[in-house]
Amino acid sequence: MYAILSTPNFHNQAQALAQKLQLPLHTEKIKDPTFYLYYNDDGLSLIATHLNLGPLHLDFNHGTLHQRLQRATISKEPLARAVGLHKNPHLYLCDATAGIGREGCLLASLGARVTLVERSSIMVALLNDALNRCNAAWRDRIDLIAADSRDFLANTKEQFDVIYLDPMFESHSHKAQVKKEMQYLQALMGPQEDADALLTAALSLKPGRVVVKRPLKARCLLDKKPDFCFTLATYRFDVYGFF
Ligand SMILES: C[S@@+](CC[C@H](N)C(=O)[O-])C[C@H]1O[C@@H](n2cnc3c(N)ncnc32)[C@H](O)[C@@H]1O
Repeated sequence: MYAILSTPNFHNQAQALAQKLQLPLHTEKIKDPTFYLYYNDDGLSLIATHLNLGPLHLDFNHGTLHQRLQRATISKEPLARAVGLHKNPHLYLCDATAGIGREGCLLASLGARVTLVERSSIMVALLNDALNRCNAAWRDRIDLIAADSRDFLANTKEQFDVIYLDPMFESHSHKAQVKKEMQYLQALMGPQEDADALLTAALSLKPGRVVVKRPLKARCLLDKKPDFCFTLATYRFDVYGFF
């Protein structure tokens, strides 16, 4: 299902990535539904041959992600307030569902020190490549870890002020206009049933606060009532350990 595509001028990088991820190296795309990671002058991208989406390429120096970070302020970003950055802009935070790193990097750009944890090796490769190219000052406040957060949180010795969870929503898959990034995440990950276990692992570590992003009408993870809730138009942040 996944492969690395060798492109002109980038064969060595493609070969190294294929070895690292233990994926086959192809010199041309085959017909079966397949995700290809490939390098070009812009860096690493992902293309899905069975989705009419165009490539997924992460870039924190230009484009939409960059613009969002440029515009962000602690007072305007509900997530920043939900994690408590307005009280302590230098929080140590674990984003245990890093995805494309949009929210974790947003929080780092606003002052937090952030450990991103992501279990999809494909997403980690894309994110790692984008972070290596990133020339923003906040880059130094980010660590990226390839792991299942349930294991990571069970074994880490780090003392996080906040753990942030954004598991895939069921409702993501029913929205007509889901952004390209989210369509890729859905296609790559499939249904995810372990969000409750993630909250258990996060709470066990006893950070100052655990924040969970949920669709507006969804049940709380573990059916556990939060101490506080930030409600927005289509989703909410359930906050455990509000101070
Ligand atoms: C909805 S996306 C997160 C999007 C992210 N907040 C962003 O701003 O880009 C959910 C991500 O969490 C990851 N994930 C889900 N469960 C995980 C786990 N137990 N450990 C690590 N990553 C996990 C998925 O692979 C997926 O990339």
